[in-house]
Amino acid sequence: MNIHNNNFTSLLIFFFFFLFSSSTTAFPNFFPNISSIPPSFLPNHTTNPWDTFNKLSGCRSGQKVDGIAKLKTYFHYFGYLANTTGNFSDDFDDALEAAVKNYQKNFNLNTTGELDTSTVNQILKPRCGVPDIVNGTTTMNSGKTTSFQHSVAHYSFFPGTPRWPSRRRDLTYAFDPRNELSEDVKRVFANAFSRWSEWTPLTFTNISDYSSADMKIGFYSGDHGDDEPFDGVLGTLAHAFAPPTGLLHLDNAETWIINDVFTSGSSSSTAMDLESVAVHEIGHLLGLGHSSVENAIMYPTIASGVKKVELDRDDVEGIQVLYGTNPENNGTVGPSFGEREMSGVARGSIGLVWGVILAVGLTIFVY
Ligand SMILES: *[C@@H]1O[C@H](CO)[C@@H](O)[C@H](O)[C@H]1NC(C)=O
Ligand SMILES: *[C@@H]1O[C@H](CO)[C@@H](O)[C@H](O)[C@H]1NC(C)=O
Ligand SMILES: *[C@@H]1O[C@H](CO)[C@@H](O)[C@H](O)[C@H]1NC(C)=O
Ligand SMILES: *[C@@H]1O[C@H](CO)[C@@H](O)[C@H](O)[C@H]1NC(C)=O
Ligand SMILES: *[C@@H]1O[C@H](CO)[C@@H](O)[C@H](O)[C@H]1NC(C)=O
Ligand SMILES: *[C@@H]1O[C@H](CO)[C@@H](O)[C@H](O)[C@H]1NC(C)=O
Ligand SMILES: *[C@@H]1O[C@H](CO)[C@@H](O)[C@H](O)[C@H]1NC(C)=O
Ligand SMILES: *[C@@H]1O[C@H](CO)[C@@H](O)[C@H](O)[C@H]1NC(C)=O
Ligand SMILES: [Zn+2]
Ligand SMILES: [Zn+2]
Repeated sequence: MNIHNNNFTSLLIFFFFFLFSSSTTAFPNFFPNISSIPPSFLPNHTTNPWDTFNKLSGCRSGQKVDGIAKLKTYFHYFGYLANTTGNFSDDFDDALEAAVKNYQKNFNLNTTGELDTSTVNQILKPRCGVPDIVNGTTTMNSGKTTSFQHSVAHYSFFPGTPRWPSRRRDLTYAFDPRNELSEDVKRVFANAFSRWSEWTPLTFTNISDYSSADMKIGFYSGDHGDDEPFDGVLGTLAHAFAPPTGLLHLDNAETWIINDVFTSGSSSSTAMDLESVAVHEIGHLLGLGHSSVENAIMYPTIASGVKKVELDRDDVEGIQVLYGTNPENNGTVGPSFGEREMSGVARGSIGLVWGVILAVGLTIFVY
């Protein structure tokens, strides 16, 4: 009898919790393109949680400025600063200067150790929530020399180089059913997965059974149970966990764009391209860390209104160290590695040029 009552009580509690949580859980904001964002939506969606760092511009070692403590929390979050004393102070101390220098090195900035304008501008950019430095060692800008045209590689792995085991080449993914994602949104992820399967022996299959999928994708607001709370519009956009955890979380609060080519005329200060962020996070699901190559998918920041979905040479080299090449892709066709621009339109036309060159080549061969 008691047991029954207890069960009934917990059922009731669960029921009310469910009612309560579903009424407070906002669904993600998806828009097909920038022009479909209603103007009434934007005023409430323009605050960057890191805007306050603007007023720290020009700060340097030895100063004490209101807001430095929050900046230390930022550097701590992304792995640049150890938390030794409990609370952070507003003193610009030696530890913070070292953190700023490491950050500048990773983002190809002058290593001044000061919060110069380009450093602050970089800090403000929306980014992935995965730390750049795990357990104190940064491999992001270590400058590994590769055999390929003596170029310098900047891809990195998680500590211990976790990857999906060699008997697991056909992986599955599923979407958190609570998000009730549309087919259009799911297709964005299917496209994002195919960017990686094109260059590796891996295949990715969308299954409906969320609990048994290798990789689980969901949109969440604020604190969502993994000690990595989301921070609202901009700031951190998403995060994902190294193999074999397989969790990919995206911030509900972002203005997600699912189908825009982002021509130069269109702009919105908060519109984030969903596929660009998805391709990056899938890189983490497969075992890649961050890269210092600005054109690389695994570069930690991405601006709003930018589509960046094709793997760079640096991404391909990194993922092939973990999994090898795709036996069905000889690598002759594909992204024009190297000097690519960030705009989808510009890349599209480069792709077209490659297609034309290939077609011309084939025609000559046939004749
Ligand atoms: C944006 O999306 C809306 C709704 O799907 C569509 O009607 C409109 O043509 C699109 N605009 C552009 C510029 O693609
Ligand atoms: C924006 O915020 C205000 C005040 O918080 C609220 O009254 C309004 O409904 C919000 N608008 C939208 C489109 O969410
Ligand atoms: C720093 O560590 C202390 C104790 O270990 C903890 O209470 C505090 O929340 C941490 N601060 C940050 C910013 O992580
Ligand atoms: C940290 O700050 C909080 C609030 O400002 C304060 O209550 C707490 O005592 C501080 N802890 C330490 C270790 O300084
Ligand atoms: C780095 O310093 C050089 C020389 O002072 C300057 O020309 C350049 O603009 C600086 N780069 C950045 C990103 O601030
Ligand atoms: C970081 O190092 C500590 C101790 O050296 C270890 O226990 C922990 O598992 C490491 N974390 C990761 C993510 O490798
Ligand atoms: C993904 O799988 C679900 C369930 O199996 C199916 O309804 C949906 O059409 C699939 N979508 C894509 C884009 O593959
Ligand atoms: C390229 O791949 C195709 C299969 O996709 C294969 O038939 C062909 O022999 C390969 N070419 C080379 C040079 O490996
Ligand atoms: Zn990342
Ligand atoms: Zn999470």
